[in-house]
Amino acid sequence: MTSSQRKMSRRDLLKQTTAAGVAAATNFIPASPAIAQKAKVKIGLLLPYTGTYAALGHNITDAMKLRFAETGNKLGGREFDLIQLDSEADPAKAAANTNKLIVGEKVDFLTGPVHSGVAMAMAKIAREEGTLTIVSNAGANAVTREMCGPNIFRTSFSNWQVCFPMGTEMARRGLKRVVSVTWNYVAGKEMIGAFREGFEKGGGAVAKEILIPFPNVEFQANLTEIASLKPDAVFAFFSGAGAVKFVKDYAESGVKARIPLYGAGFLTDGTLGAQGAAAEGIFTTLHYADSLQLPANLRFRESFKKATSRDADVFAVQGYDTAQLLIDAMEKVKGDVGATKALISAMEETRFDSPRGPWHFSRSHNPVQNVYLREVRNGDNAVLGIAEKEVSDPGTGCGMA
Ligand code: BEZ
Repeated sequence: MTSSQRKMSRRDLLKQTTAAGVAAATNFIPASPAIAQKAKVKIGLLLPYTGTYAALGHNITDAMKLRFAETGNKLGGREFDLIQLDSEADPAKAAANTNKLIVGEKVDFLTGPVHSGVAMAMAKIAREEGTLTIVSNAGANAVTREMCGPNIFRTSFSNWQVCFPMGTEMARRGLKRVVSVTWNYVAGKEMIGAFREGFEKGGGAVAKEILIPFPNVEFQANLTEIASLKPDAVFAFFSGAGAVKFVKDYAESGVKARIPLYGAGFLTDGTLGAQGAAAEGIFTTLHYADSLQLPANLRFRESFKKATSRDADVFAVQGYDTAQLLIDAMEKVKGDVGATKALISAMEETRFDSPRGPWHFSRSHNPVQNVYLREVRNGDNAVLGIAEKEVSDPGTGCGMA
């Protein structure tokens, strides 16, 4: 079966199951290149606008809009529409939502999601359909490993990339026995797995991995268990509203006074205002820190604050960089969204001044970037240094790597 036959049969199936599919099938008129150039470019955003990750989705979206506005709201000279769809961070709805954007809306570019489980479904369909896709948060390792494809890019990170360096760092600090705790889904499991890999390599041991159903925030029983295990430290991944609750509960339960808390930087990014004193002294690793003294970061933080009245965070940076990637690539092809090969080459070669510092794409289309060691000091993610320079995800299983 050829790939176009495969595509047809998948679409036939969708036609019977989604209203979007019916619309796409009955209204299909092949567009001439001239017509296609006049139509607005369509960018689909599959992001969480409700639920525990809502703030993350809003910051990615608002930072994209900010960068587009700063550059005149045109892509290669063409007008564009952003089509926002609430993913609800729900993997069960991810395939249907992706199809709504790709088949129903016929978007030229697809971006999002936040949740790794949603990304697995989204990337699979985008790969089959050949839709140019930029993952603007979800760290699922497979997206730039086994599932990698020429049309799939990621401007954020892989789950391995931000947590392996913390394992190395904690072992270097002489910690011997650690408990890890996270939500029981792809991102949580991959993050504590990468932490464990780095920690064990440095001679440490993980006493217990505690997995909590996503997006539960009832942590009391888990905190009691951690206290009874008496580890040297705890490593955690939570994000958004769940991270706020975990960090507050950790402090209020009294565990924080006895057992230091470490984590993936998402634990304290975009959350410090709500966490207050409970977050002070938490050590994390991430590919960004609020306090990076880079001209691009200072400019970006000021503009984001002015535009939204909120403080920027790592999610906003990823949205901003996603928009910049689209702007640069569309400029290179003069707005011709049909020039897929040229668009892909332009994206692969892209280099710009990011608020996070220098980065470029690996051959499997994941950022190669510095991972910073941070500590919460006076309500800020203060940079202590670079935990690991130019970290590249191993990209294992990717035919392009
Ligand atoms: C993820 O599911 O990949 C994820 C969600 C929130 C923050 C970081 C990663």
